[in-house]
Amino acid sequence: MIDYDAFLSQAAARMQESAIRKMGTVLAQVEDVISFAPGYPAPEMFPWQQFQEIARALLQGDEGRVLQYGPTRGYGPLLEAILELQAARGVGGRLDELLVTTGSQQGLDLVARVLLDPGDVALVELPSYTGAITAFRNAQARLAGVHQQADGIDLDDLDAVLGRERAAGRRVRFLYVVPNFQNPTGLLIAREKRRALLEWADRRDVLIVEDDPYGDLYFEDSASPADTRPIKADDGAGRVIYLSSFSKTLAPGFRVGWIAAPAALASKFEVAKQASDLCSGGFDQRVVLESIKRGVLAAQVPRLRAHYQHKRDVMIAGLRAELGALVSWPDPRGGFFLWATLPGGVDAEGMLARAVSRRVIYVAGSAFFVDGGGSSLVRLSFSAPTPERIAEGVRRFALTVREELDAQTH
Ligand SMILES: Cc1ncc(COP(=O)(O)O)c(C=O)c1O
Repeated sequence: MIDYDAFLSQAAARMQESAIRKMGTVLAQVEDVISFAPGYPAPEMFPWQQFQEIARALLQGDEGRVLQYGPTRGYGPLLEAILELQAARGVGGRLDELLVTTGSQQGLDLVARVLLDPGDVALVELPSYTGAITAFRNAQARLAGVHQQADGIDLDDLDAVLGRERAAGRRVRFLYVVPNFQNPTGLLIAREKRRALLEWADRRDVLIVEDDPYGDLYFEDSASPADTRPIKADDGAGRVIYLSSFSKTLAPGFRVGWIAAPAALASKFEVAKQASDLCSGGFDQRVVLESIKRGVLAAQVPRLRAHYQHKRDVMIAGLRAELGALVSWPDPRGGFFLWATLPGGVDAEGMLARAVSRRVIYVAGSAFFVDGGGSSLVRLSFSAPTPERIAEGVRRFALTVREELDAQTH
């Protein structure tokens, strides 16, 4: 028998499977499970008809480049279109500052490869997106967590953590934030804090990695484009590496995202991407471009805002009715996630087996914390299930919580 572990690189030996992907495996094994686990978009909202028309037009066979390799930076006309989309968010930029990525997830991986040496520090929010945690860990970085408040990252804690890491002789490379409807908390970083972050990054000489897949998906009853204006929009000094994606607004199956970064860094990301996949799928990029040009994206976004807002309302109404004050959460003002605190002492990871037996599933909060915290928190995604399934799933979840509480007291 070959001992394959002996062949692994140090980085691979330390790699950890994503908790959320693992949850998907559990899910596949249980019948009729209602899943609040993965942050998937609603499949019934995909513009199937328009995608069919676009795909048919692209696959006529009269344009060989549709299925050919393309530039690593991305398909030129799509890059131009992304510049325009960004400008609508207040983010200026030039073509030499832009790169198409195979989803934002590849953007995070490129950031890790280009900016992190083993032992370097990446500052992340407590809690933070697991895909970013995995990408930075794979580069053998040290992840230092910074607490959040109701209006986003705690600036005092941020400076204190930075000070501690530097005093210990470590190199702090960047702060990673998801300012709009964060995965997993759903929180927004307040406008004043965004400005303060830029000033802080300049003063302390660190970069900011801003990950913004959800900014367009604000709920009109409680947020506006002014609340979701990217940090990058006011980045006069070139401190911000901005990542975004079409996964949540068009479809994640196309795997098209982008990075906007100072030109010197963008060219490094390009070289790193050459080794990663040569180029993002040319067909996917063209479908995305056509969706922009034909107005599909522009029509989608307001529909999605209303759709997810309704699903959030169904989830909140269910939780209130079924669990009253036992569970608490900040009301999501956009995005896909509700971040709930369980009643006294209930351990979310420990409760998972019971939840599966009740045919409902969520992600335990601890998956998102780099400091071992989060045991009494759960992330409930309301994006993918239908409203009826959300209501039924919340009933099952409430039963799970009540049974767990009972089991604790008996
Ligand atoms: C905060 C955040 N960043 C990045 C991603 C990756 O998205 P994609 O690679 O599909 O663009 C996700 C997906 O859930 C996310 O929530």
